[in-house]
Amino acid sequence: MINVNNLSNTYKTKDTSIKVLENLFLTCEKNQFVSIIGPSGCGKSTFFKILSGIITDYSGSYSVNGQVIYMHQNDNLMPWRSIYDNIILPCEIRKEEPDRNMINQLIKEFELVGFMDMYPHQLSGGMRKRAALLRAYLTNREVMLLDEPFGSLDALTRKSMYSWLLRIWFKHQKTVLFITHDIEEAIYLSDVIYVMGKRPATIVDKISIDFKRPRNMAMLLGQEYLTYKKRLLESLAK
Ligand SMILES: Nc1ncnc2c1ncn2[C@@H]1O[C@H](COP(=O)(O)OP(=O)(O)O)[C@@H](O)[C@H]1O
Ligand SMILES: [Mg+2]
Repeated sequence: MINVNNLSNTYKTKDTSIKVLENLFLTCEKNQFVSIIGPSGCGKSTFFKILSGIITDYSGSYSVNGQVIYMHQNDNLMPWRSIYDNIILPCEIRKEEPDRNMINQLIKEFELVGFMDMYPHQLSGGMRKRAALLRAYLTNREVMLLDEPFGSLDALTRKSMYSWLLRIWFKHQKTVLFITHDIEEAIYLSDVIYVMGKRPATIVDKISIDFKRPRNMAMLLGQEYLTYKKRLLESLAK
């Protein structure tokens, strides 16, 4: 579904240039959940900006078999629009009448019943993230690029989002590339984890996570989890 080949990127400003990505390789199969983990500032968001066409000045190549939607680190809900008006924005942009039945069903699945007339500031952090994910979902793209979607949430809310996200992902069959700097989150959610090194970032490790699905929190307590965690910590220290 996604194939990235030797991708490099340098930011050029008036008097400096910063090399951010160096010879990146990555592949992602259809309907896989693939995470990218790496230190802050290494170039993860830059990578998504390239995949989504926001940055066009790069070397190397990539191909995506379908359209992508990029959900930014910051949820970008518009404060002056109600939650409903926020989530139907993709339909509005396409000048399509929103399908009320489908949207009502999705509002249930995204656990947002009763909040459609509220404004973003009236929602909890977890709800805002679910609303932003629903809006991204309604763009109806094959590939979702999720950039630290749970980054600003407290640890307990975060954990409750994991099983929810996996249920949605499994039911709706999407290909997901997921950026995180949280080791536990990456192991719990992913089929495959790519580890990025420090800037200029390249892929320093690729780890398949063989836990069965559906996953459960008990998987985060066993020896197998510790083995994955140890390897990730070692790769991140490279
Ligand atoms: N538009 C830009 N111009 C110049 N430098 C940038 C720009 N955007 C990001 N950078 C720099 O590129 C590096 C990687 O940024 P980013 O991709 O946001 O990292 P990450 O998402 O991994 O935290 C950082 O050092 C950042 O300061
Ligand atoms: Mg980032």
